Amino acid sequence: MKPTYHPVISATGLYTPAESISNAELVESFNAFVVRHNSANSAAIEAGEMEALQPSSVEFIEKASGIKARYVMSKDSVLDPSTMEPRMAERGDDEMSIMAEIGIKAAEQALERAGRDAADVDAVLCAASNMQRPYPAMAIEIQQGLGIEGFAFDMNVACSSATFGIQTAADYVRAGNAKSVLVVSPEITSGHLNWRDRDSHFIFGDVATAVLVEDSSIAPRPHWDIVGTKLKTVFSNNIRNNFGFLNRAAPETKDAPDKLFVQEGRKVFKEVVPMVSALILEEAERLQIDPLKLRRLWLHQANAGMNRLIAQRVLGHEANDDESPTVLDTYGNTSSAGSIIAFHLNSDDLDAGDEGLICSFGAGYSVGTVFVKRHA
Ligand code: COA
Repeated sequence: MKPTYHPVISATGLYTPAESISNAELVESFNAFVVRHNSANSAAIEAGEMEALQPSSVEFIEKASGIKARYVMSKDSVLDPSTMEPRMAERGDDEMSIMAEIGIKAAEQALERAGRDAADVDAVLCAASNMQRPYPAMAIEIQQGLGIEGFAFDMNVACSSATFGIQTAADYVRAGNAKSVLVVSPEITSGHLNWRDRDSHFIFGDVATAVLVEDSSIAPRPHWDIVGTKLKTVFSNNIRNNFGFLNRAAPETKDAPDKLFVQEGRKVFKEVVPMVSALILEEAERLQIDPLKLRRLWLHQANAGMNRLIAQRVLGHEANDDESPTVLDTYGNTSSAGSIIAFHLNSDDLDAGDEGLICSFGAGYSVGTVFVKRHA
């Protein structure tokens, strides 16, 4: 008889950068840049040839997004009004790259929590919204750093990279191609954020997460059964970044806003909330899970208002912090890592049999759902 395999989440890991930026610090730096910019361009502004930049505000940021702070890898250069971007010394080819380094830290924690020897892992997926180089794959460097045999590759589905990675890992397990797969998401999102753009300068933060997906036959106890996963993509230009290898030499690339993160935040909000809610409810029905009985939602961390609406549509009532925990306030939007941080920090207290949902959404558009059940 053909053996059957059941993918589970054995453990997760989290790496949090040492430095954090509060909204007050961020706005002070942004507003200093605005004063400098407007005074340097006062003649053009007075002549009506250029629009004066407007200051940002702590109150707006918190009210519109729910974000109070974000961790970053390079605080000083982000806050310095003359740079306003992360500046990390370029490393030599014989040194470990920064994305691999933080990915490994998160992965080591996941392995330790699972009691898993790296030598017993079969594959590594580096699933993140930005890779610091095209090749060799970040995942292969992480694989080597951890001492894993087998194979590794990178995948990018923007904010849904981690959930798409979990389904991919689960499919390897289901097919019998691997028993233990690490999904690592180092998200140094500060590098793609336009810190000079008032509409979005407050959104992102840096972090790395890891999820160990394994066959239940080797998984530690307790673990999380993966009850079902569902992915969906619909093309949209409302979250876009045009940076790429084909435009690297173009003179307009340097400092061009479209070569960094750009979004139509209002449209994203309006279009993504119904898409995500519908996918969750359809998938719950297919899996014969009563959404009203979901014990906890670990939602993508982009906007507190979006999460409130989605949780309400799924659970049928306004969710409290226990039902839909927030990490957005301290981490900001960490792209694909957000729902995994929420899960990592808020799942140990659940009981055997409790069901929950990890869900991501973002650029693409892309949506990923991972229904899980606590196993004793
Ligand atoms: N400080 C003060 N005021 C600001 C500001 C800032 N930093 N940025 C924008 N404003 C102003 C705007 O100029 C606008 O003023 P007006 O009403 O006089 O025109 C007003 O605040 C509202 O701006 P808007 O951009 O419409 O805000 P919003 O309520 O849509 O909130 C987001 C912006 C980005 C927080 C919100 O749209 C969002 O989170 N959307 C979802 C994004 C998402 O999930 N993206 C996925 C990313 S992976």
